[in-house]
Amino acid sequence: MNNSDAVVIDGLRVRRGRREVFDGLSLRIPRGQVIGLLGPSGCGKTTLMRSIVGVQRTHGGSVEVFGEPAGSRRLRRVVSYGTQGSAVYTDLTVRENLRYFASVAAAPRSDVDRVMRQVGLAAHAQQTVDDLSGGQLNRVSLGAALLGAPELVVLDEPTVGLDPVLRAELWNLFREIADAGTTMLVSSHVMDEALRCDRLLLMRDGRIVADTTPQQLLADTGQSDAEAAFLTLIRRDEGEHRETRRSRREEER
Ligand SMILES: Nc1ncnc2c1ncn2[C@@H]1O[C@H](COP(=O)(O)OP(=O)(O)O)[C@@H](O)[C@H]1O
Ligand SMILES: [Mg+2]
Repeated sequence: MNNSDAVVIDGLRVRRGRREVFDGLSLRIPRGQVIGLLGPSGCGKTTLMRSIVGVQRTHGGSVEVFGEPAGSRRLRRVVSYGTQGSAVYTDLTVRENLRYFASVAAAPRSDVDRVMRQVGLAAHAQQTVDDLSGGQLNRVSLGAALLGAPELVVLDEPTVGLDPVLRAELWNLFREIADAGTTMLVSSHVMDEALRCDRLLLMRDGRIVADTTPQQLLADTGQSDAEAAFLTLIRRDEGEHRETRRSRREEER
């Protein structure tokens, strides 16, 4: 294990229902960067995040976070998880929500003001969440995930439903947080967001089809946007898969 890695996954197997979501997945996530986990709906992003946070039942392989098994007690204060969809209380104010989540996370109360400033909601502290705009609402969820100063923040589709300007604002905020040393693992099914990360994990059908950087992705595929680059990779990946299946069949003969 390299101590610059936040997460090391080796041979992970996960079944959900009758479906094998991961059949031996391996990857590493470096510390202190914004890592984008990008891929279409159903590819396994949420399952991977749940495995890293330690709330997913797994069926083989290992997931280590900062050198500890995922979900272990020592990681409780170190790792935070913003689930898909908003989990805040719409009838409470911004401050009340964050106070509540601070008490659940056993974070100091003083954290509430720090976090509100960090996510740009200090001026909205007394506002009921119901009255916030979409972008502000997403920032309340982000604020909740930042309470207690975690070292790894896992955010599942935090920009979903936002217009491009608000999405860009949130990604800028992720960048600021990562610059201060926190590892940010952020999922999205919107390919354009791929270009905003330091590193990219492109996922499809339970497999990582690329572990790369935005620059490298565009250079490797000769494309100028992420969506086209992803399609190029998928075509290549399918070609390789056909090749592997064919050579396996030939070996079996
Ligand atoms: N509770 C569940 N029971 C059975 N299958 C599930 C369950 N949750 C997710 N799956 C399946 O696991 C696969 C990966 O899902 P998920 O990790 O939610 O993907 P994503 O977050 O990328 O949309 C999908 O095929 C989905 O249908
Ligand atoms: Mg999901």
